[in-house]
Amino acid sequence: MAKKEIRIKIYPDSKIASKIFAESLVDEINEILNKKKYCLISLPTGNTPIDLFNEIIELYKKKKITFKNIYFFNLDEFYPISKDDAQSYNYYLYEKLFSHIDMPKKNISMLNGTLKEKDITSHCLSFENKIEKLGGLDIQVLGIGQNGHIGFNEPGSLRDSITRKVKISDNSLSIISSEFKDNVKVPREALTMGVKTILSCDKIFLLAWGKNKSTIIEKTIKSKITKNIPATYLKTHNDVTFILDKHSSLKI
Ligand code: F6R
Repeated sequence: MAKKEIRIKIYPDSKIASKIFAESLVDEINEILNKKKYCLISLPTGNTPIDLFNEIIELYKKKKITFKNIYFFNLDEFYPISKDDAQSYNYYLYEKLFSHIDMPKKNISMLNGTLKEKDITSHCLSFENKIEKLGGLDIQVLGIGQNGHIGFNEPGSLRDSITRKVKISDNSLSIISSEFKDNVKVPREALTMGVKTILSCDKIFLLAWGKNKSTIIEKTIKSKITKNIPATYLKTHNDVTFILDKHSSLKI
């Protein structure tokens, strides 16, 4: 696996970073839409992209972007979980983004946490096929777990992994549990785009804010490529940018 350089951009705080990144993301998408009919994007959930989503909504209100020709593929979802469950990533994305913009529902492809076990493999394969049929992902935005997961590709995930059901690691479970409301139990499994799926995207951005992320950002940047830190696989891609604040970049 050849090692490539990751571009790193550091901002004073996550609000400024999110604002500047939202503007450049909208420019990138519009440039892509000048060249071809559709743009395929994938965005993460969690705490990291909340300001980004708000900034994107503001830019949409200012008519800097329309989502009519944008296809969205979601990065991951708990399993099992109902789409209407307030803790599901499905619910989160509709609440925080889709219900505020003009992306047609038919353009939104969500991993489905409500399926029966026996239907998961074909669901994941058709998710992959849909991306391929539409010409591949143009832009992937990621967060990063404190253990180096990207999507729910936990430590141990292989470079060639595709969209599939995975076990959530104990480390991630304990972090997520503290964020689940009303002591609701966190599902122990998830559906996630694979490492290969993520790396097949043209351009990748990884966002990380806060001191809690400084150790994993340091490890990701300084360590060799290893399945123990799935984010290190990003070093095999030739267009990856890390967007950091001063806290997450503390140790690099
Ligand atoms: C969520 C996802 C995860 C998160 C990561 C960081 O869709 O893919 O990999 O990006 O766990 O989560 P936050 O942003 O809550 O720190």
